[in-house]
This record gives sequence, structure tokens and C-alpha cells, in this order.
Amino acid sequence: MQAIKITENIYWVGAIDWDLRNFHGYLTQRGSTYNSYLILDDKITLIDNVKDYMAEEQIERINSVIDPAKIDYIIQNHIEMDHSGSLPILKDMIDEVEIFISPKGAEGIPKHFAIKKEEFNVVKSGDELNLGEHTLQFLQTPMVHWPDNMVSYCKEENLLFSNDAFGQHLASSERFDDEFSADITMEEAKKYYANIVMPYGRQVQRALAALQDKKVETICPSHGLIWREDTEKIIHKYKKWSQNQVDDKALVIYDTMWNSTKKMAYAIQDAFNKKNFTTRLLNLQYKHISDIMAELLNAKYICVGSPTLNNNILPTVSAFLTYMKGLSPKDRIGLAFGSYGWSGQSVAIIENILKDCGFETMDNIKVQYRPDKKILEEITKKVKNNLSEEK
Ligand code: FEO
Repeated sequence: MQAIKITENIYWVGAIDWDLRNFHGYLTQRGSTYNSYLILDDKITLIDNVKDYMAEEQIERINSVIDPAKIDYIIQNHIEMDHSGSLPILKDMIDEVEIFISPKGAEGIPKHFAIKKEEFNVVKSGDELNLGEHTLQFLQTPMVHWPDNMVSYCKEENLLFSNDAFGQHLASSERFDDEFSADITMEEAKKYYANIVMPYGRQVQRALAALQDKKVETICPSHGLIWREDTEKIIHKYKKWSQNQVDDKALVIYDTMWNSTKKMAYAIQDAFNKKNFTTRLLNLQYKHISDIMAELLNAKYICVGSPTLNNNILPTVSAFLTYMKGLSPKDRIGLAFGSYGWSGQSVAIIENILKDCGFETMDNIKVQYRPDKKILEEITKKVKNNLSEEK
């Protein structure tokens, strides 16, 4: 377990969680990393920590460079436990360590660990900490991802320790974006934004604006690969995603009992295809809700279908709608559809949730029992006609 050099005196000393598959509901099919960084300077400084069960790996990596007991400063950019879990362990190993944290972080940490608020040095936006050859500037980035978040900028290296921002859940032996598949890295960055950062678009825009006067060549996030090749590209993507910019793309998301709702889903997709939209047909029996959110990030139309089951919708559809609503996508257009046998409540239930999300809605579509060829053609025609003003 070795530290990995980023610059002459800055090292990655994090932990790689190869087995992680569930991050509170988010399918992390490629695992994750919890990144921690070490700056060797007059004041030896550790930036962020790792999950408690990975402390041993972090400490071993620090040990490959210096004795952890020699650390002078710890910067805790964020208190969520994937970045603070090993803090009490490190703190106990060091006789005298100063810990720097945001005001909200200092309030939150004592509720997680037996560390008193008074034991922290509270820093605000614009505060600087001189380490010797390096200077860290702090910038509060509340709600990217919790109220306490902040980032630390090293002006001598044009390097940003961005914590949750610009992260990816991705376990790899490679540490830099130029060493790994650019497509996979961006795919995971997009999925991460959709599932973690999406509700906080305005806060992301504020953080990006505050960083505008700083030269950023390297971004060291707290999850995944370090950006040093596609740095500008990921910043540009965050600008687009945070502004809710969508493409001519339609998602048709559904579950089905006897394939009637499935046939309707195909008919609806056909209408969008005929209008040259990019489409995705997403069966909730096979597609994870967190992967659907990644598709939803740049999709304008969100069509959701369920048959009626026990006067309600299928549990898979309910789970997806609950998850999507929590992530607050904005400025989308919804379409509810579904088949039914006798009572037919599912479509209204879905439509009400889409409206609760703040979506405009198209005329919903209900079919009793099985749609035949003629009904399916009518569905395609109806949706296509409703789109005619669009394209
Ligand atoms: Fe990666 Fe908000 O923690």
C-alpha cells in the first residue's frame, strides 16, 4: 500500500473500495475510492480522510512516505463518514494536530465522533493557511454535497481539492484520468452527478463562479480519478449539468405484468424515434434506478408506465419515482401511461407524482387489458402529434 505522487510534494494516500456496490441506493458497479491527500511541507498536512473500515489502508499509504504521527494539520473538507470515518483514528495517533473545518462542519462533527467543537479551527471562504511552500485557500461550497462542504485550493500548484465535487465512484489501480478510459471516467462522473449532486445545481453554479478567477489545472476529488487531462472538460460538464441543459432525448421507463404496458412503451418510443429524438427504453425489472438517473440527466422527456396492481402502481415504478423526486430534476416534460384490467388508478398516480416533481405533463395514455395493433398505432400517432410543435 504505497502513496502515489501527484506533484513533487503532494501525494494520494486514500483507499480503494473494490467491493462497494451500494452507496445508499446508488449502484456502484465499479466500486469506489475515498481519496485522501498528503502535502509534505513545513507543516505536514493531510486533506480529507476515508471510511472507518479503510483506515488501515490510508495509514499504511501515509506510512510509506512519513510517520503519520508527524502530521501537523488535517483539513476536513466534508464531514460525511466516507471522508471523516478515519479522522478519530488519525487524531488519536498524533499528539498535537490542528484540524481545519468549515463552520457547519465544526457543528456536525461532534454529533458523529467524540471530538469537541472547540478542538477545531473554523475557516471561512477566503481564509488562507500557509504550510511553507504551499498555501491553501478555503472556499465554502454548501450543499455540494452537505451544508458543511468546502474545497481547498493550492494556488502554487493550480490544484483544487474538490471533495465530493467532480468525483466518480470508480475503483482502479490508476489514479489519473489520463491513465484510464476517458469514456468510462466521464460515464461515472455523469452518473455521480445525477445521483449525488443533481439537487444542488444552483449551489454548483455558485461554486463554479467563485472558482472562476482561479487557475485550475488539476482537480483532486474525494472519489475516483484525479483530473489532470480532462480538467476543463469536466468543469464544462458541471456547468451544463447544473444548468439543467437537456438534449432531444426521451426516456421510456416502465414495468409490466403481462406485457401490455411494455407494448405501450414500445409504441411511445416509436413516436419519439419518428421525431428523431434519442430514446432509451428502460425496463425497471432490468435497469437500476441509479443508472436511469444518469440517462435522465440530459433527457427532456420522462415517460413512466405501470399497469395497475391492487389499485396502485408496481413497487419498482414507485421506487423509481420516489428516488427521482428526491433528486429534483427540473424543467422536464412527463408522460404517464399504463394498462389496467378494471380499476386503472396507476396512470393518475404516476401523473400526479410527475406533476409533484414540477414537470409539465403530456396527455396521459391508458389502455384496458391488451392493446392491439390498431391501438398501438394510435398511441404512436397521438404522442407524435403532441410532439409536432417541438420538431
Ligand atoms: Fe462522498 Fe458527501 O460524501
